[in-house]
Amino acid sequence: MNKKKIFVACDSINISKIKEIIRKTENSKLEVGYKFGLEFLNSKDGRKFISKLKNKIIFGDYKFADIPNTCASAVKAVKDLNFNYLTIHISSGLEALKAVKKVSGKTKIIGVTILTSLDNKSLKQIGYSKEVKKIVLEQAKLANKANLDAIVCSPNEVNLVKKVFKKEIITPGIRFNSKENDQKRIQTPKQAYKNGSDWLVIGRPITKGNINNNIKNLINHLK
Ligand code: C5P
Repeated sequence: MNKKKIFVACDSINISKIKEIIRKTENSKLEVGYKFGLEFLNSKDGRKFISKLKNKIIFGDYKFADIPNTCASAVKAVKDLNFNYLTIHISSGLEALKAVKKVSGKTKIIGVTILTSLDNKSLKQIGYSKEVKKIVLEQAKLANKANLDAIVCSPNEVNLVKKVFKKEIITPGIRFNSKENDQKRIQTPKQAYKNGSDWLVIGRPITKGNINNNIKNLINHLK
């Protein structure tokens, strides 16, 4: 059977903590990639650390959201880090998505839909009148049009996205229990794979507390 795939969210500015996360999550039962987000990428030593990583699947979660020229220039600016995956907000618009794809080379470009920390109420607050699901569907169509390589959405929207987007689907918003933290649209790992996610992104449920135990619990939960 194919190994289940997870990206571990390396959200810390502490290099020793990041090393501990990597060491303790490498596991023969899972395919593990490492996601570096705004916290680590903006930290003093983050970039240098990533430049030295070898033989790992690495995901630069920059969540670019800007005009086409700036997004494409930013992708070029991080080329030396050889990320396997990079993110751009689909809300940057079709032209920005196309501009990024033009310069991305071997790096896969992931389109980020509505953040998993938002629900219908929060969308209203920022002036969007459609529901989460409707917007995610429109954004998935746009990602397809721009020939993006993957999509980030909540596990609740995988079925919907699959109708219009046939490549990789990556889902954060993963929780073993009802401890949501700041996430709103959540599912358990088992349910997220059942829905058809190719990769799960898991941060705090693995990296907080005892990492070895958390990984064991994940593997047991998936049996
Ligand atoms: O700790 P937790 O499991 O909530 O971490 C989720 C990770 O996925 C964070 O690094 C967050 O930035 C990222 N992410 C997300 N929702 C998105 C896109 C990325 O939670 N829509």
